[in-house]
Amino acid sequence: MKILLLATAYNSLTQRTHLELAYRGDQVSIELGLNDQVMIEAVELYQPDLIIAPMLKQVIPEAIWRHHVCIILHPGIKGDRGPSALDWAIANNVESWGVTALQATGEMDAGDIWASVNFPMQPMSKSCLYRSQVTQAAIQAILQTVERFESGTFTPEPLDYTKPDVQGCLRPYMKQRFRAIDWRSDSTSTIVQKIRSADSQPGLLDWIHGKRYYLYGAHPEDTLTGTPGDIIAQRQGAICRATVDGAVWISHLKPKTRNRLSLKLPAALVLADELATVPESDVPLTVSPNRQTYKDIWYEEKNQVGYLHFDVYNGAMSTDHCQRLRDAFIYARSRKTKVIVLMGGQDFWFNGIHLNVIEAADNPADESWRNINAMNDLIHTILTTDSHLVIAGLQGNAAAGGVMLALAADKVYARRGIVLNPHYKRMGLYGSEYWTYSLPKRVGSQKARELTDICMPMGTQVAQEIGLIDQAFAEQPDSFCQQIQFVAEEFAHHPAYGQQLALKHEQRQRDERFKPLEAYRNEELAQMRRNFYEPDQSYHQQRYNFVYKVTASQTPDHLAIHRQRADSEKTCSLIFAE
Ligand code: COA
Repeated sequence: MKILLLATAYNSLTQRTHLELAYRGDQVSIELGLNDQVMIEAVELYQPDLIIAPMLKQVIPEAIWRHHVCIILHPGIKGDRGPSALDWAIANNVESWGVTALQATGEMDAGDIWASVNFPMQPMSKSCLYRSQVTQAAIQAILQTVERFESGTFTPEPLDYTKPDVQGCLRPYMKQRFRAIDWRSDSTSTIVQKIRSADSQPGLLDWIHGKRYYLYGAHPEDTLTGTPGDIIAQRQGAICRATVDGAVWISHLKPKTRNRLSLKLPAALVLADELATVPESDVPLTVSPNRQTYKDIWYEEKNQVGYLHFDVYNGAMSTDHCQRLRDAFIYARSRKTKVIVLMGGQDFWFNGIHLNVIEAADNPADESWRNINAMNDLIHTILTTDSHLVIAGLQGNAAAGGVMLALAADKVYARRGIVLNPHYKRMGLYGSEYWTYSLPKRVGSQKARELTDICMPMGTQVAQEIGLIDQAFAEQPDSFCQQIQFVAEEFAHHPAYGQQLALKHEQRQRDERFKPLEAYRNEELAQMRRNFYEPDQSYHQQRYNFVYKVTASQTPDHLAIHRQRADSEKTCSLIFAE
């Protein structure tokens, strides 16, 4: 079928929808819903059989929905309506929630229902929920809808609040006054829930030392106490504020400003001097998994396998993160274990250097240079490890240097359904992280060039077919973690473990003789130096647009195949393995 996706942004859910439909064999084109005119024009040019809006904040014009079946993905259960569906679901602490595929009509979220998929709620932030359970349910609902539409016999169900399974209702936009924290009475769990319901957008607006900030990245703390509202500790860029029954960590802040743009950054970087007298509160790398506190890098060990977690906000790693992760990896390597699993984070596995911290630096070019070198030091340490077998366990999406970090491992496994973006060019970068060594080694030089040139997302099916990853399994994060543990232990206890380690060592030595890692690094960094320091390069502008979320002025050509001519095949060749 010819399917047109209308979306506000080519975000992770739109990318996953694109990949799943293309893998099914549908021809998919995308138009960003910038205004009514472009959406109407896209429909006229493409003449789709079906239109799907996986994430569209704009209303589909009547001129479209009157003549075409348009499916809107609403992140709510049957009957739920309104623009703050997930915010209310988290704030109201519901036990289960869902995604509903509705037909667009003149009334917002009130069209006939094509499919609805429910899921149990987990304690996490709105955007984390969106990228995990919501995305999985949305893909199920989309695929059901497409099959039902294709059958030509399915009649969608009109919205009828008298039906017992229609449990939702119309809710308003959640304004900041509904979200406000009362530090004199709100418990830790209430505060965590309020912040999570607004994370990552718009953030929860609050006061700190007489100024207004949006709060993000909330984690409960089970040991520290103090006067409610006061900042009582700081750790690795996060601040800890006392509550009436304990304390809460807040990892990121964004100042509320009137006439200028502001950036979301680690809290301690935003408050800087104001934290001079606030004590540092350390936490060991091997902190117990049962402790409630803030930790971004931690280590666990079981049955001769070490698990290194790096669950950093938005998967972005600053220079400091890279240095701390390298130290943690060196610690893991010093243990008498056989296998190290790089677990990354559950939301994002890893998205490369920290573009917001770089943007906020006095000299962004210098900070980019420090960040990429710290990242390369980390990856070099992984690549040259001969004491352990290293596994990358990709629980969540990964992009740019995040994918290349995974490729430094000996084995790469991914949770089925995550989205990988193994390229840098759209950020105006050549890329480093030894990708010129690791990527061709896995997929061959021709494919490596295509992947980094055409810059399309990739699903786990294709990633496995082309050898970018070894295998994808388990859709749910919990079962993925159980299976990765099983796989890692099998390697550790396999009779051929010693032989495998020896082979790895020999291979690395052979590769080193053929071309030293230092040569790859120097060549990549020579290009990156140009990207960072030469005036005609687009990186600084691209980064600015990215961190300040400057809306695209048009749909990129490689996505809108209805606007493409000769090179449309290029796009498809990457989505399929060929
Ligand atoms: N540095 C800082 N922030 C980053 C980041 C990075 N490298 N990668 C992602 N983020 C942030 C986004 O700004 C966004 O912030 P928010 O909390 O204000 O919403 C959040 O992570 C989620 O990203 P978003 O783009 O909304 O999610 P997505 O799932 O639709 O897309 C990516 C994910 C990874 C494809 C996209 O974020 C991206 O291209 N990131 C940049 C990757 C990169 O070029 N890294 C540097 C080179 S190594």
